[in-house]
Amino acid sequence: MSVYDLTGRKALVTGGARGLGAGMAEALARAGAAVVIGDIREELGQATVDAIKKAGGDAAFQPLNVTDDHSWERCIEGTTGGLDIVVNNAGVEISSLVIDLDPDDIRKMLDVNILGTALGIKHAFRAMRPGGPAGRGGAVVNISSVAATIAFPGIAAYSATKSAVDRLTRVAAMESGKLGYAVRVNCIYPGLVPTEMGNQLAQDMVTLGLFPNVEECVGAVIGLTPHGRLGEVADMADAVVFLASDASRFITGAGLPVDGGMGM
Ligand SMILES: NC(=O)c1ccc[n+]([C@@H]2O[C@H](COP(=O)([O-])OP(=O)(O)OC[C@H]3O[C@@H](n4cnc5c(N)ncnc54)[C@H](O)[C@@H]3O)[C@@H](O)[C@H]2O)c1
Repeated sequence: MSVYDLTGRKALVTGGARGLGAGMAEALARAGAAVVIGDIREELGQATVDAIKKAGGDAAFQPLNVTDDHSWERCIEGTTGGLDIVVNNAGVEISSLVIDLDPDDIRKMLDVNILGTALGIKHAFRAMRPGGPAGRGGAVVNISSVAATIAFPGIAAYSATKSAVDRLTRVAAMESGKLGYAVRVNCIYPGLVPTEMGNQLAQDMVTLGLFPNVEECVGAVIGLTPHGRLGEVADMADAVVFLASDASRFITGAGLPVDGGMGM
């Protein structure tokens, strides 16, 4: 059997209704995992579940607001039949120049990106550690960003939250190892991908006056990327499958750039 095979594993992908999370859920299902999509967007999430099932995969939807501890409890209770993989992907990005930062926008990003990821790791540990309701150990994959590894204008607060995801990953991996939870914790730093979030970010850079048009903004990102293109959803999804699978069995507390070299 391939070390990438996830047959018999159960995975939860937060923010899996659309974008990168939907691609990650599809890739995990293709690798053999039974996937639960947890998201605040129920209709969109159900549509992604239907698409995975149509392609022959095993998928279900659970309502989940990652910023709410009780919502996490209900979601984990609803993931019947064990839990082996948690992908903390849900995130929000609100662009602004530092000089114009809005406290409510910062709080929203802190809430979803930091608190949401922290609660995701907490509930993954509680469920997956020996003696927990799932109890077989497993893998947590957090979604940071290339924004945590470079300085790009217009996304200061977002970049700060993604740097926090990086630190959460490493301390959580340390605790898991030391305390015998048998859960590996890693993160990836995706480069810019033209999802709804990625496209909005490029548009925002124009609105903020940082680039004359979207084409020049995208061109600048590609220019900073040795591999010479934007990221694709599948680039991120395949990296998540790797970090969720036994192929990465001795990797924990790591951050994997998936950015075509942009952050090197
Ligand atoms: N697209 C990019 O260029 C890019 C680059 C680097 C990192 N990322 C990160 O990848 C992740 C996914 O990004 P995307 O481009 O797919 O974004 P997206 O906006 O297309 O999708 C985000 C998903 O998260 C869900 N979500 C938002 N708040 C939530 C909450 N409170 N609880 C549960 N679900 C919630 C949304 O409903 C949506 O389905 C994010 O963490 C983002 O920061 C994206």
